[in-house]
Amino acid sequence: MQEPAATDSNLPVHIAVIMDGNGRWARNRAKPRHAGHRAGVKSVRRTIEHTARRGIPYLTLFAFSSENWRRPADEVSKLMGLFVEALQREVDELHRNNVRLEFVGDRSRLAASLVRKIESAEAHTHGNTGLHLNVAIAYGGRWDITEATRRVLRRVADGSIAADDVDEDVIAGELQLAGLPDPDLLIRTGGEQRISNFLLWNLAYAELYFCDTLWPDFGEQELDKAIEFFACRQRRYGHTGEQLEALEC
Ligand code: FPP
Repeated sequence: MQEPAATDSNLPVHIAVIMDGNGRWARNRAKPRHAGHRAGVKSVRRTIEHTARRGIPYLTLFAFSSENWRRPADEVSKLMGLFVEALQREVDELHRNNVRLEFVGDRSRLAASLVRKIESAEAHTHGNTGLHLNVAIAYGGRWDITEATRRVLRRVADGSIAADDVDEDVIAGELQLAGLPDPDLLIRTGGEQRISNFLLWNLAYAELYFCDTLWPDFGEQELDKAIEFFACRQRRYGHTGEQLEALEC
């Protein structure tokens, strides 16, 4: 893997990914769903490596949503086991490749053993200056905004900020991805075209790329296609195309 290079304006700075289709990939092969999740870990590795290679500084992967707790207990427990296993196996390699690994989501719902591994991986890779990789586990966009709101209300209650001074920056500063640039490209595999309670606040202006490829089949070529799609979009932020042409944005 390479160090993230300075990105040109046609490259996304932050890619977020909803990795969907593991179950169907397994079913198509008459395998248990867990086999699809295992195959999904290989796509995770390929995606991390290729994102770094393309010089994109931030990558955020949706590995387990707040709603995924509703899945059969056996699937949830196997997925949690897979996260622990992947952490054990991959962290040293990520560290060697200068990747900074962080987790977002509701840790209070995770097993203590997984939280310990998460904290140790974060501490181990904290000083790295290459790809900044966020993995969302037990994450929901509404949960994130609710927690941020609670923190802001506490600050208002203790007098450290006035209610009238609460603006978008104050709220954004309390979200899980505080301080990071918003994702400018969202990729969702597996054919569905929805955001599914992923980074609801942060995806406000993201370009949305949906593909039918099931996550375990997602690879370098598909990632390049998504990046190419992004490069072709004209990003308006509420301006007209003419205004942007005048500004040469
Ligand atoms: C969605 O596919 C996928 C998940 C809920 C789990 C994602 C987990 C991984 C890719 C594996 C490990 C990740 C890391 C970061 C080590 P689905 O099961 O909903 O598929 P379906 O829609 O075909 O049923």
